Amino acid sequence: MKQIKIQGGNILSGTINISGAKNSAVALVPASLLSDEEVKIDNIPNISDIDALNEILEYLGADVKRDGSLMTINSRNIHNKEIPETISKKLRASYYFMSSLLGKYKHVEMYFPGGCSIGARPIDQTLKTFRALGATVIEDGNKFTIDADRLIGTTIELDMPSVGATINTLLVAARAEGETILKNAAKEPEIVSVATFLNQMGAKIIGAGTSEIHIEGVDYLGSCFTEVIPDRIEAGTYLIAGALIGENLTIKNMIPEHISSLTSKLKEAGFKMNIGRDYITISKSDNLKPIKIKTLGYPGFPTDLQQPITTLLTQIEGSSSLEETIYENRFQNVPYLNQMGANIEIRNRTIVVKGKTKLVGTAVEATDLRAGACLVLAGLIAEGETTIKEIKHVLRGYENIIEKLESVGAKIKLEEV
Ligand code: EPU
Repeated sequence: MKQIKIQGGNILSGTINISGAKNSAVALVPASLLSDEEVKIDNIPNISDIDALNEILEYLGADVKRDGSLMTINSRNIHNKEIPETISKKLRASYYFMSSLLGKYKHVEMYFPGGCSIGARPIDQTLKTFRALGATVIEDGNKFTIDADRLIGTTIELDMPSVGATINTLLVAARAEGETILKNAAKEPEIVSVATFLNQMGAKIIGAGTSEIHIEGVDYLGSCFTEVIPDRIEAGTYLIAGALIGENLTIKNMIPEHISSLTSKLKEAGFKMNIGRDYITISKSDNLKPIKIKTLGYPGFPTDLQQPITTLLTQIEGSSSLEETIYENRFQNVPYLNQMGANIEIRNRTIVVKGKTKLVGTAVEATDLRAGACLVLAGLIAEGETTIKEIKHVLRGYENIIEKLESVGAKIKLEEV
């Protein structure tokens, strides 16, 4: 088991470069399978979620080369066979293979995907899309066998703007016959990146980034090159680190607009930032004001940053609140923060954080990816040493987190126990 140890209280200053976005890359890699030619994707983050997708591609017989952050994938000779549950349950994004295989071969067999345990996370909206396009879905326990004689474009309205269901619809409808109109689509930048990638291969998608997307199916998708967009959640996490204990900490190679919901909350709390074209510089600050946060789909405040920002709320004088509207079980970080000295009460889907409280290092556990990020941030400001167990969850989503934090002054080390 891997764990990290952090000696708290060290000022962070210098520059952290942001990697490619996990939630874009984990969709682009399965999307590449729709092409019958070589596809190159650069700025792929070196995280274990990508390794798991790489494993699925190779299992299916794709030719995959990785050279630093460049991934070259050729899926011309793949065999469409059942993807074992042992691999698909490693991550949520494995189910993007469902739609790319269904789109390409009109048949797919695979299991319910994995992912962080932060709520029930059903896949009914994706299955609804498959059925609307003409596929038959047979569910046998955890296993799904999906077949279609033909996939025919139609109008689909999602019950909620699901990121995964929107991406799955893009993937499968790109190879359907005729036009698919997706209403109530999610608008996250990662969706725009997938649509752009597919269009570069020859797809005809317009409207990605708005709530109505039009996808005109095509028979053939060819070669292309793309670069993964910067990870807005990684950028946001380090920006919060700078707000906690930074002195001119610069977060670079990012798109500030992608986290404007975070920067506006930081401004409301009293932080001053220097926001440039592809960077933000921040320092810790006194005399902060309590804030109210509610998670929403893009461009609202991202659920993936609510656990990280909870650490910051513990350092603001007064009572702040945070309502989680996307997931029903995303407060598993709270008992650990309280164990470190925070005063946080969970009231149904809202937490009330009373600050300012001193945090003291102790042994805690990362229950999921962003809970782990929250505890890393807590460890950076805590008195003494914080040990974070089950750090594998954090390594699934943050490239070189130890090296990046060390390079700006943190005392942090990874241990195998
Ligand atoms: N939902 C359904 N049915 C569906 C799909 C979703 O009820 O068929 C519900 C979910 O249970 C949830 C809400 O709709 O309550 C939103 O789920 P969504 O489908 O948008 O989430 P996702 O695609 O499973 C992606 C990211 C998550 C991120 C969410 C929201 C990936 C691989 N994962 O998940 O990222 O929290 O969008 O932005 O892209 C993370 O990076 O830590 C992470 C969990």
